[in-house]
Amino acid sequence: MEQFEPKLVAFVCNWCTYAGADLTGTSRIKYATNVRIIRFPCTGRIDFMLISKAFANGADGVIVSGCHPNDCHYTSGNFHARRRWMSYNAMLTFMGMDPERIIFSWVSAAEGAKWADIVNQSVDKIRKIGPFTEYQKLVQSGIEEENFNG
Ligand code: FES
Repeated sequence: MEQFEPKLVAFVCNWCTYAGADLTGTSRIKYATNVRIIRFPCTGRIDFMLISKAFANGADGVIVSGCHPNDCHYTSGNFHARRRWMSYNAMLTFMGMDPERIIFSWVSAAEGAKWADIVNQSVDKIRKIGPFTEYQKLVQSGIEEENFNG
């Protein structure tokens, strides 16, 4: 039987996690290839619609990662992201989605090995949870209904 290979989208800040992920590559640390990275200036840019869109387009899990607390290059963007993360949790639960599918982390530019660990652990976690088809079906049925109604 073939093993389920989850698709993950990682929203990362340019200054810390993206540089950390780059270090993972230049250090030739091997890690799961299931993640597609989307670079932001800062995790403060993250919003619920971006996460929903990632799921609607086939992601099984999402990683949001930026600078450590007090290291944000825009002073407090990561604190905004953390606050939003708490409200997403409540919203996702209310919508019947499993908040375990979203992984929030801090990775600095010097933590290439940590980035590899986070990706590997996230892929293992989502692999255990399984494919996220419910949300895509819901979105698809909404689109069909919209087309039907004009
Ligand atoms: Fe990295 Fe704000 S610049 S989280």
